[in-house]
Amino acid sequence: MTYAANEIICHCKQVSMADIERALHQHATLPDVEKEFEEIQKLTNCSTGCGGCHDKVLDAISELMAG
Ligand code: FES
Repeated sequence: MTYAANEIICHCKQVSMADIERALHQHATLPDVEKEFEEIQKLTNCSTGCGGCHDKVLDAISELMAG
């Protein structure tokens, strides 16, 4: 695990790794990381502030998808 569960991935919206994981389990698995990103953005509001966390959120999603 690169990110700890309590690590804040998006500081603007205070979205943690655990929040992203929870959101990921709230919908059916989508075919690619970009689609997952859009869905998770809707569910958690992550990456809707400065946008600086975009790559970090993608990383976190790929990591969770890889198990
Ligand atoms: S840190 Fe996520 S939008 Fe700014």
